Amino acid sequence: MAFRIAPSILSADFARLGEEVRTVLAAGADVVHFDVMDNHYVPNLTVGPMVCEAVRPHAVKDGRPAPIDVHLMVSPVDRIVPDFARAGANIISFHPEASMHVHRTLGLIREHGCKAGLVLNPGTPLHYLDHVMHELDLILVMSVNPGFGGQKFISGALDKLSAIRARIDAHRAAGGGDIWLEVDGGVKVDNIGAIARAGADTFVAGSAIFGAPDYAAVIAAMRSEISRA
Ligand code: DX5
Ligand code: ZN
Repeated sequence: MAFRIAPSILSADFARLGEEVRTVLAAGADVVHFDVMDNHYVPNLTVGPMVCEAVRPHAVKDGRPAPIDVHLMVSPVDRIVPDFARAGANIISFHPEASMHVHRTLGLIREHGCKAGLVLNPGTPLHYLDHVMHELDLILVMSVNPGFGGQKFISGALDKLSAIRARIDAHRAAGGGDIWLEVDGGVKVDNIGAIARAGADTFVAGSAIFGAPDYAAVIAAMRSEISRA
């Protein structure tokens, strides 16, 4: 199984964003997690497609483009999807409560050449996955309520991850495609092992990485906890 570390640039220095992205990828990260907030679906406001486009040339690892994982915390969703695809997003995920037509939005993301993901808040039930597993490339489990970095991990996310891991395994066994299981919120070196045991394979971490002086040391410690788990 492949494990991916996806630093959330929400906690990076926005005045030096390109440099932060290059530094964190050189420090061992795999994916750039790009948090988009609209002060409507969530009570905070961040960045849009223009900033994604500006970051794109900096998202390079070992001379090759690293995936930009756009986490849309916006409503409505569909209007902005093509803009992010054009801005160089590789993965686009959204919250089902924020879209009037979940199946249509997943199709729209894929039509624009991106991988599509659904994001489940701590209070969002798993039944949103029931009829769309074949349209999914990624499921993102929120382990905080979305809107801010630096919040405390909600432990109920562990059971949710295990339940979704079982669904993904059943989907794969029935001939379905690969689906990444990502976790976002309050992920640190001291809980990442338990999160990996619960079934996550892609780990978003904002404050834990960008809040530390040595990104490489944090990422290495995270990988070591994952491999021991
Ligand atoms: C929260 C965002 C997260 C956040 C994670 O709404 O989706 O990606 O930046 O930050 P930490 O790792 O600090 O909880
Ligand atoms: Zn996020």
